[in-house]
Formats: sequence, structure tokens, C-alpha cells
Amino acid sequence: YKSCSLFFRKLLVLTVATEETDGFRRFMQSANYFNYNVKLNCSSGAGNGESWKGGDVGRSIGGGQKVRLLKEAMEELADQEDLVILTVDSYDLIFAGGPEEILKKFQQANHKVIFAAEGLIWPDKRLAEKYPSVRSGKRYLNSGGKTCKFCWLFSPKESNVAQWDLHDNDDDQLFYTKMYLDPLQRLNLNMTLDHKCQIFQNLNGAVGENRRKKKTTKSRVKFGAGLQTFNLSCCFSSQMYLNYLGNYVPDAWNYEHGCAHCNDDNVDLTEMRELPNVLVGVFIEQPTPFLPEFFHRLLTLDYPRTSSEVYHEKHIQRFWEDNRNAFSSFKVVGPEENLSQGEARNMGMDLCRQDSSCDYYFSMDSDVMLTNRQTLKMLIEQNRKIIGPLVTRQGKLWSNFWGALSLDGYYARSEDYVDIVQRKRVGVWNIPFMAHVYLVQGTALRNELKERNHFVLEKLDPDMAFCRNARELTSHREKDSPSPESFHMLRPPKGVFMYITNQHEFGRLISTANYNISHYNNDLWQIFENPVDWKEKYIHQNYTQIFTHNYMEEPCPDVFWFPVFTETACDELVQEMEHFGSWSGGRHEDKRISGGYETVPTDDIHMKQIGFEKEWLHFLREFISPVTLKVFSGYYTKGYAVMNFVVKYTPDRQSYLRPHHDSSTFTINVALNHKDTDFQGGGCRFHRYNCSIESPRKGWSFMHPGRLTHLHEGLPTTNGTRYIAISFIDP
Ligand SMILES: *[C@@H]1O[C@H](CO)[C@@H](O)[C@H](O)[C@H]1NC(C)=O
Ligand SMILES: *[C@@H]1O[C@H](CO)[C@@H](O)[C@H](O)[C@H]1NC(C)=O
Ligand SMILES: *[C@@H]1O[C@H](CO)[C@@H](O)[C@H](O)[C@H]1NC(C)=O
Ligand SMILES: *[C@@H]1O[C@H](CO)[C@@H](O)[C@H](O)[C@H]1NC(C)=O
Ligand SMILES: *[C@@H]1O[C@H](CO)[C@@H](O)[C@H](O)[C@H]1NC(C)=O
Ligand SMILES: *[C@@H]1O[C@H](CO)[C@@H](O)[C@H](O)[C@H]1NC(C)=O
Ligand SMILES: *[C@@H]1O[C@H](CO)[C@@H](O)[C@H](O)[C@H]1NC(C)=O
Ligand SMILES: *[C@@H]1O[C@H](CO)[C@@H](O)[C@H](O)[C@H]1NC(C)=O
Repeated sequence: YKSCSLFFRKLLVLTVATEETDGFRRFMQSANYFNYNVKLNCSSGAGNGESWKGGDVGRSIGGGQKVRLLKEAMEELADQEDLVILTVDSYDLIFAGGPEEILKKFQQANHKVIFAAEGLIWPDKRLAEKYPSVRSGKRYLNSGGKTCKFCWLFSPKESNVAQWDLHDNDDDQLFYTKMYLDPLQRLNLNMTLDHKCQIFQNLNGAVGENRRKKKTTKSRVKFGAGLQTFNLSCCFSSQMYLNYLGNYVPDAWNYEHGCAHCNDDNVDLTEMRELPNVLVGVFIEQPTPFLPEFFHRLLTLDYPRTSSEVYHEKHIQRFWEDNRNAFSSFKVVGPEENLSQGEARNMGMDLCRQDSSCDYYFSMDSDVMLTNRQTLKMLIEQNRKIIGPLVTRQGKLWSNFWGALSLDGYYARSEDYVDIVQRKRVGVWNIPFMAHVYLVQGTALRNELKERNHFVLEKLDPDMAFCRNARELTSHREKDSPSPESFHMLRPPKGVFMYITNQHEFGRLISTANYNISHYNNDLWQIFENPVDWKEKYIHQNYTQIFTHNYMEEPCPDVFWFPVFTETACDELVQEMEHFGSWSGGRHEDKRISGGYETVPTDDIHMKQIGFEKEWLHFLREFISPVTLKVFSGYYTKGYAVMNFVVKYTPDRQSYLRPHHDSSTFTINVALNHKDTDFQGGGCRFHRYNCSIESPRKGWSFMHPGRLTHLHEGLPTTNGTRYIAISFIDP
């Protein structure tokens, strides 16, 4: 009956695991999901309590030892008639289907021993011609080395394992290969390979295949609007592609339920008596716009004051001197220490690694604007060795992670990249590269990542070096292994998984390109490059309420009054002008304007003179045009203006302006400082209506017609200095 009825056969999975790596945990998760019966590291059977733990076990286990352990296990199980055994290596494998399916396929294959097959031959290429040729599918016995590990099925009762004899340090790969290549043994053992990958899918060379076959393959796993499909029972790959797949298989994520296990391992911070101790490493590697805002956000994270290491370049010296007091405890590494970026990052990570009370290391580059104050807590709650929050360049596909790597280790776009960036797929994603901002567990730094110098590797930039080191933790050891070929597969890939979460909005990435630092207040010029941050810094908090709540006033007929600038915008513009310093002196002769003569001159500086014309006109189009449209309905302005300037009124020089019309369709007039604190007097009077506004508000603008109806004058400033910004729009 055993050959005809599946119901009476049982599947037992035997695996050897010496260390609980991230990959091993993922393997167990998928096994549990399908209710596989897994016997781990043979310790209750073949291992006889043999210790697999401690030290550098990985290196000391020979493949032969594995075969021996397996033999012992099988001898013990040999009398179990209906048992089918699946042996696998657990570090880089995911189950994508259940045991019933594997048993069914095993039965259909009609052999007693089935090995996984693959298209590449390893370790000994010379053996190629000894392989029986196949009409289609993969020819070679799965070679644990480069790609995946042994995966084979057999029934112990019928497999004559007694004759399997080799030493602990022999290469098990070669052993099985030779067994298979010997025609007599092959026949005796009734052995075959899973040429068509009915059972075992080795993903390493198969990625392209899956893509090509996507229309014809029957799919079990569907995502990406059904574009990419996989057909797997049991899949393999030692490389990144498996990490990608693991985000979806088995049933880890789909469009209906989203992420199934993202929060399974979460810790609850509210239950901790004391929050974990976090060391923040801040890296300012190039002139970065909106640095004060960056520090402000860092300091207002919802987390008790942390200690920080700040590595910075020269240009923030001034800023740093002003703000250092904001940190409770910190170490500053300035340009004088002449560290490379990699060295600085190593140093920051070491500070946490060497301090056993450091629970987390939070690395942040200065171009990360964390707008979510809960970010740090949320990341800690995810309880991963390395995790970063998704941050993206506003409105762009640029982000702080890569979904895939190209063959040479650089950026490649994964099928799901755009969806993750745009948060159409939400979850916690295992990815091969991240940068700019991430959290690393202190315990991981003192264990898996205990080697130092992670940020310096060949000629890679520091982030790429770190990610590669984390992904491929075994690579270092290969160097000092006596025989890389035979030992390669014996060592567990200890690669630490790196995750990016987009379960919440966390913030954005600043663009540091085109940051001209030759001005006094450089951020003012960022209206094109970083429009969101520019708006946040310079546009009045209640500006949008003009449109939503009619937040404006009309103090005189057709004179509209509305908030537009923040105090910072006003202050920086004034500073910029004073820094420039060449006030016109209010003379009639004026070389700056066509004709060279101004009938109603003011003491002013043109935007053009400080190189701010382009930015100012953009500001007019973005922020003034919509208001114009609201108050003068039907009038579409293109925001064209030749005369844009800041006027200075002071009793010593020019204190008022006589009644005049403006050469504009309409004029804006923004107050740049406070009446009573900064000056006395001032204001504006419109003659036709006998109407004066004597208490201008800092950051608020008037908007009024320039000619005909709105003859106006500037009222005398009696003390202090009054500044206003003026534009004659659509002259
Ligand atoms: C080996 O097996 C024993 C018993 O099943 C288990 O407690 C131990 O965690 C396993 N070792 C590893 C590294 O998984
Ligand atoms: C393997 O054994 C089965 C019966 O158990 C037999 O039908 C099949 O032909 C054998 N295959 C080979 C290649 O010997
Ligand atoms: C896909 O799965 C179907 C059904 O399980 C099977 O018939 C087919 O051969 C598989 N194709 C591949 C390429 O694995
Ligand atoms: C800084 O380091 C570079 C290269 O590491 C070296 O050429 C340079 O002389 C160093 N400068 C100082 C001031 O130490
Ligand atoms: C930076 O600004 C200064 C002053 O406006 C200007 O002279 C210079 O050309 C600008 N540099 C770049 C690279 O745009
Ligand atoms: C914005 O308006 C609210 C009331 O609507 C006010 O409390 C707040 O102070 C205003 N913000 C600024 C910056 O003036
Ligand atoms: C203008 O208004 C003021 C009071 O605001 C008033 O005293 C004055 O007489 C008015 N002048 C004219 C010409 O209406
Ligand atoms: C003028 O302003 C200064 C400071 O800004 C102040 O000390 C002085 O009292 C003011 N004078 C008058 C007449 O208000």
C-alpha cells in the first residue's frame, strides 16, 4: 500500500543547523507555516547530543560529519516503513509548499532517492561529461557551494545507507556526486535528479527563467499585479533573490492581507521600565541644507535624550558652536581629525559596540528629515538586528534602500521597488542595501557584527561596504580557510538580514545637490531643490488657511492682507540684505533700472543684486499667484515682475515715501520685522479711501492694485529700522 497511498507516508525533514542565523529563523518560519515535521541538527537522533554550539563551530564541521550524522539518524529510523526523509540545509531555504505536495511529487518521480538539480556544475567541472545527458532541464547534482545546499528525498528503508562511508572532513558534496555518477550505484540506489525542478527550485540561476516563463507557469505565489509568478515547492538560493522572495513566500505578503508576519516579533516598549539605551551617530559629510531643522527634529524625537557622536565637515562649524548645548552627552569629530568617512562611521559604531550598556546604535546622515517623532521607538519595536525607516526624496523614486543588486553589486531595481517607495505595498522588507538612516542592535554589534571596520572594504563607499559585510558575513572567513572550495558550504552563511520598514511615514531625504554655500543664508535659495523643506521653513504656518478658511483681511478697499512668510524667512532675508550692505540711498539717479531715473526712490536693494531674482519669481508664482486668483477672481498672473526689492526705512536715512502709484498691475508689500520692537511708526496710507494701516504684521503681506485707485504713501518710521519686501507684479 505504501506506494499507492500517500496517506500512509510521512515526511520528516532533517537538517543541520549550528547557529541560529536570520536565514535559519526564516527557514523555521516557513516550515512551521506548513506544519513540516523538522528534526533539527539531529541532536535527538543522529547527533547523540553532540554539541553543535559554541565557538566557530561552522568551520569545524566537515561535510563528512554531516553525512555521518545523517547515516546515524537513518539507521535509527530505518524500520519506519512509511517514512520519507527530506534533508536540507536550513540557512538559505524557504518552503513554498506543504509536505503533502512534496510527497506527491516524490511518488510521481518513482525513484528512491532524488537530489536537487542545477544548471551549474560544482565543485569539479571535469566531472561534467560523466553526467548522464538530459533532454531538458538541469543536468547536474545540486552543488552546495555557490548556490544552494543539498536537498534530497529518499526513503530510508529502501536506501542502502550502510555503505555510505566517509570521514568527517570529507566533502559531502563530492561524495554524493560520485555516488550519482557511478552508473552501478545510481541504479542500485534508484537515484535520480529533479531535473525539471518539480520539487526543488534552485533560484540562483533560475531568476531569468522564472521571468521568461511567467506567462505559462502556473503560479502559486502572485504579486506585482500578477506580473511575476513562481512555481515552487521548496526553493533555494544562497543569495539575495531568496531574501527578496522571503518577503512574499510563503504567504508573507500579498495584496489582500498585506504583511502577515511583520510584527510577529515586536517588543512592547510600554512594558519596559526603562527605554533601551541608544547611541546616535550623526554624519554630516557634505554641506547640507536645512541643518538646523535636522538637529531640531533629532532633538524632538520622542525619546529620552541620547548621547551622540557627531561627525561633521567644516562648514557647520558656526552652526555647531551655537547648538552643541542641546545634546546631553556627545562626542564631536570635526574635520581636524582628518578621518575618512568610513573611519568616522567605524568609530561611531565602535562606540556602541564597546559599551555593553549600548542597546542600539542609530546612524543618521544629515540629509534625513525625520518628520515622524515616533521613528526611533517604532524601529526598536520591530526588534530586528538592522532596520531602517523608509525615507524618500519628495515626489521622486529616490530612497534610502535598494531592492536588488546588479551583478557587480550596484543598484538594480527590484520588481517591488516602486510600490514600496510609494507605499502601495506596506511592510517590513528584507533588502540588500540601505543607507542614510538605520538602527543596529548592540547585541548584534557584539556578536554577528563583532568584526570592526565594517565600513571600509576595497574601494566601496562606506554604506556599500557595511551592507556587503552584513550580507556576506562568511566572506571574511573564507580568506583564512585552508581550502575554500570544500569548506565553503560547511559554514553557515551568517548574513544578517537588513530590513526597511514602510509601515509608517517616517520622513524624507533632502537633496544636497546644487547647494550653493556662498550666501549668508543658503537655505533661502533651496526653493527649487528642496521645495517641501523650503516651504516648511519659510512659508507662514497659516498660509494654506487663506484658501481653506479664508484666513485674510481687507483693511482698506481692495487691499488684502494675508500671512505669507515665517519669522525666519523675514529675518534671513533682512540678514541677507544687510550682509550685502549696498543700500541704494534713495536717490533719483538709479543705474539699476532702465532709464536710470526713479521718480519715487526708496533706500533699497534689489533681489537681483543678491542673486535671488529667479528664486523670488518662483516664490511669486508658487505662493502669490494663488492668492491673486482668490481675491481678484478671473485675473491670472504669471507672476512677472521686474522690480523686486527690500526697502529700509529709518529716521537717519529715508523714513517715509511720498504718495505715489506703482508701476504694476498689483503690488505686494511684505513686512519683514515687528512694529514696536524693531521700529516705531511706519505703515501705509491709501488716499482715495482715507485709510491707513498703521500696525503692519511681520510676515504678512499686502496685495493691492498698483495704479489709478490706489495712490498710497509710506508713513514715517520714527525710530528703529523698518524693512519691507516689495514686488511690482505684471507692470
Ligand atoms: C539543535 O537542536 C537542539 C534540540 O533540538 C536545539 O535545542 C538547538 O537549539 C539546536 N541548535 C540550533 C543551533 O538550532
Ligand atoms: C526505481 O524504482 C522503481 C520501483 O521502485 C522502478 O519502477 C524504477 O524503474 C526504478 N528506476 C530506476 C532508474 O531504476
Ligand atoms: C509548475 O507547477 C506545475 C504544477 O505543480 C507543474 O506541472 C510544472 O511542471 C511546474 N513547472 C515548473 C517550471 O516547475
Ligand atoms: C589627512 O589625510 C590625508 C590622507 O589620509 C593626508 O594626505 C593628509 O596629509 C592628512 N592631513 C592632515 C592635516 O593630517
Ligand atoms: C553660488 O552663488 C554665488 C553668489 O550668488 C554665485 O556667484 C555662484 O556662481 C554660485 N555658484 C554656483 C555653483 O551656482
Ligand atoms: C495660526 O493661526 C492660529 C489660529 O488660527 C494661531 O493660533 C497661530 O498663532 C497662527 N500661527 C502663526 C504663526 O501666527
Ligand atoms: C480721514 O480719516 C480721519 C480719521 O481716520 C479723519 O479724521 C479725517 O477727517 C478723514 N479725512 C477725510 C478727508 O475724510
Ligand atoms: C527708539 O528705539 C530704541 C531702541 O530700539 C529705544 O531705546 C528708544 O527708547 C526708542 N525711542 C523712542 C522715542 O521710542
